[in-house]
Amino acid sequence: MLMQKKLRPMKMLVVLFLLLVLSNAVELNVKENEGECEYKPTLDPRPHSVSILEFGAVGDGKTLNTIAFQNAIFYLKSFADKGGAQLYVPPGKWLTGSFNLTSHLTVFLASGAVILGSQDSSNWGIIEPLPSYGRGLELPGARYQSLINGYMLRDVVITGDNGTIDGQGSVWWYWISSHSLNYSRPHLVEFIASKDIVVSNLTFLNAPAYHIHPVYCSNVQVLNISVFAPPESPLTVGIVPDSSDKICIENCNITTGYDAIALKSGWDEYGIAYGRPSTSIHIKQVYLQASFGSALAFGSEMSGGISDVLVEHLHLHDSLTGIEFRTSRGRGGYIKEIILSDIEMENVHTAFGATGQSGSHPDDKFDPDALPVLSQITLRNVAGRNITLAGSFIGIQESPFTSICLSNVSLSVSSGSATSWVCSYVLGFSEFVFPEPCPDLETSFSNSSLACFSLLNSNGHAAAL
Ligand SMILES: *[C@@H]1O[C@H](CO)[C@@H](O)[C@H](O)[C@H]1NC(C)=O
Ligand SMILES: *[C@@H]1O[C@H](CO)[C@@H](O)[C@H](O)[C@H]1NC(C)=O
Ligand SMILES: *[C@@H]1O[C@H](CO)[C@@H](O)[C@H](O)[C@H]1NC(C)=O
Ligand SMILES: *[C@@H]1O[C@H](CO)[C@@H](O)[C@H](O)[C@H]1NC(C)=O
Ligand SMILES: *[C@@H]1O[C@H](CO)[C@@H](O)[C@H](O)[C@H]1NC(C)=O
Ligand SMILES: *[C@@H]1O[C@H](CO)[C@@H](O)[C@H](O)[C@H]1NC(C)=O
Ligand SMILES: *[C@@H]1O[C@H](CO)[C@@H](O)[C@H](O)[C@H]1NC(C)=O
Ligand SMILES: *[C@@H]1O[C@H](CO)[C@@H](O)[C@H](O)[C@H]1NC(C)=O
Repeated sequence: MLMQKKLRPMKMLVVLFLLLVLSNAVELNVKENEGECEYKPTLDPRPHSVSILEFGAVGDGKTLNTIAFQNAIFYLKSFADKGGAQLYVPPGKWLTGSFNLTSHLTVFLASGAVILGSQDSSNWGIIEPLPSYGRGLELPGARYQSLINGYMLRDVVITGDNGTIDGQGSVWWYWISSHSLNYSRPHLVEFIASKDIVVSNLTFLNAPAYHIHPVYCSNVQVLNISVFAPPESPLTVGIVPDSSDKICIENCNITTGYDAIALKSGWDEYGIAYGRPSTSIHIKQVYLQASFGSALAFGSEMSGGISDVLVEHLHLHDSLTGIEFRTSRGRGGYIKEIILSDIEMENVHTAFGATGQSGSHPDDKFDPDALPVLSQITLRNVAGRNITLAGSFIGIQESPFTSICLSNVSLSVSSGSATSWVCSYVLGFSEFVFPEPCPDLETSFSNSSLACFSLLNSNGHAAAL
């Protein structure tokens, strides 16, 4: 506030300067980001391959194979410096509890191979909470370890000929709903502090909570997978890039109870202290359905920041919310420099949501003055059929959402345009948007922040000046 007053006589100059800085920055981001899905991993065959059968596994869906998986991977560790190795999982139903992967490893699931998660909670390990969360997500203290884990690894591929990894999560959904769990639910696949990861050509079913969770990771490619959990499965999520960078999610079909894809980066004071953002993320060509959540969500845990995200060719259907930005006082952090382009939606209750009142706090030690920033969000080329509410943008009084830019958006809204947008503490710019947005999203160019305007031009230049 003080600074603005001082600078007032130089306002024009400042505006021009900012424009230069911001448009350059944004152009750079877009250019950098275009790489994440363009770089295609070279999946050279590993020089060594063993079958899980060689370790005594039985594919009858009843015999517990945890030890076979652990032994196979322990054996394959010795090939790490010889070009790595492949663990082959043949057709069959391979019941197992949690196990850990190793570096320079490919796990290949043949057509008809199904890895089944044990429905006995004692077959899942218990591990420390993540430092950026400070506790389990659902219950304080420790958490269950995921079914398939990577910890500080590099060069790991989980792939196959459309094999399946099925968490058989119904027991966990029942336990969490009936408050009988002692620790937070596990995920299906989790990579912690790992790099150069590929997950491709598989089907993931019925995770206890998240299906694929890369956290503190770099260079993760999730390609050509399907994810399915039934609509009534409580808070099941598809893919959750969390405090991770250089992520590509391409050609995936995801149906879940809660969010299909959620980008996160830690929780309140723990996420702020850990300080690792989710950035350089590219999502393209995905079909998403989130019956009781958002097809694509940002947050609500975003305390390490989320930036430089490019999303294109999104198909969203039969969901509560299409695209949602969630945050809250106490989160700190930011969600900024996000471009979403070429989006089709049908049968979605709320097409776009942004809220500053979402989610709970890990404990009472959070700082209520840690205000999150939400800015520079561009949504363009959107067509929606059978939408109930076009948009709900509810910012925070002391930290309004700014530079929300809408361009070429056409939604057929069933509620009638009078009530189709809800806005408070939000500022944005729009062009060719139907139904007509609330005035807060139609501020003139000179009042809206300038960065989005350069993004609205297809060539990335602030040509309108
Ligand atoms: C698996 O890795 C975790 C670290 O993420 C470790 O705590 C656990 O002991 C490992 N389990 C086995 C069986 O090696
Ligand atoms: C996707 O995976 C399926 C098997 O699940 C495979 O048949 C298909 O060729 C893959 N497509 C691409 C583009 O890799
Ligand atoms: C992959 O497997 C799933 C489940 O077995 C099946 O529903 C799906 O149609 C298969 N996809 C392809 C491309 O073969
Ligand atoms: C939680 O702990 C109690 C007491 O130790 C135990 O009886 C119960 O089976 C545990 N719940 C689960 C789901 O493991
Ligand atoms: C997916 O499967 C197809 C067909 O087998 C294969 O050509 C492609 O290389 C695989 N892609 C990945 C990333 O695993
Ligand atoms: C996803 O669904 C679309 C449309 O139904 C289909 O064309 C595509 O092959 C599917 N992709 C996968 C990975 O199953
Ligand atoms: C419109 O979308 C809603 C979900 O928002 C769905 O319940 C309803 O069946 C859809 N109507 C039609 C005609 O598809
Ligand atoms: C507007 O968006 C639609 C898709 O919703 C697209 O087909 C059309 O080309 C876009 N128009 C412009 C001028 O980009």
